[in-house]
Amino acid sequence: MARTPILAGNWKMHGTIAEAKDLASGLAARVGSRSDRGVVLAPPCTALATVREAVAGTRIVVAAQNMSWADKGAFTGEVSPVMLADLGVGHVILGHSERREIFGETDEVVRKKVEAALKHGFTSIVCVGETLAERDAGRTLEVVKRQVDAALNGLGNDAGSKIVVAYEPVWAIGTGRVATREQAQEVHGEIRGLLRDLGLPADAIAILYGGSVKPDNVDGLMAEPDIDGALVGGASLEVESFTRIVEYRA
Ligand code: 13P
Repeated sequence: MARTPILAGNWKMHGTIAEAKDLASGLAARVGSRSDRGVVLAPPCTALATVREAVAGTRIVVAAQNMSWADKGAFTGEVSPVMLADLGVGHVILGHSERREIFGETDEVVRKKVEAALKHGFTSIVCVGETLAERDAGRTLEVVKRQVDAALNGLGNDAGSKIVVAYEPVWAIGTGRVATREQAQEVHGEIRGLLRDLGLPADAIAILYGGSVKPDNVDGLMAEPDIDGALVGGASLEVESFTRIVEYRA
């Protein structure tokens, strides 16, 4: 089954509102009308409304980088799915390794967030990936399977259209050390098999690779059969480089 490729920019904690507006407007002009590829921008929370406005009328989708599993309440510092929906945001990155490692998000928390996202009709980009120590210990597949299983087990076939998976090996994030296309393909293939085992429509679910994706390595990665897109950090912060990534040639 043909899957529409998705190129997503995770801006992390970068940029003022004015900078976000410039970047989003620049990308809207360059890649905003592409219908053969999904383009997703995930700015910091403070810039979500501005970016949404800047890409209005284009096909670019705006995503949050995180959200609470609760609708409302005494959760100081959190942003709820209801609030994001109020901004017109319907996509969210969940379980990014920086959330897991720096802010202590467990598999259980990620699961609760995935369920909350589904309840509110969001599309989730669910991130998984092993650390360098786990890879060196030969535990990559075990770790990734545990994370995928915890986040997605038992959701039911219908959830499939609202799920995107991102495989982001922690050792490749922000390090300039990209996984080889063979390393990435191996894990992506395993993830697709696991999605199938979980009763999800595995052939229809996009599995993105993330970790030092750049204009000069995206083409090779995208040529692999189970790599359906990229979740890009550093190289998504400039119009030129992210445009080249969106315009990859496989
Ligand atoms: P880099 O592309 O900067 O390595 O970041 C990857 C990432 O974490 C995207 O979510």
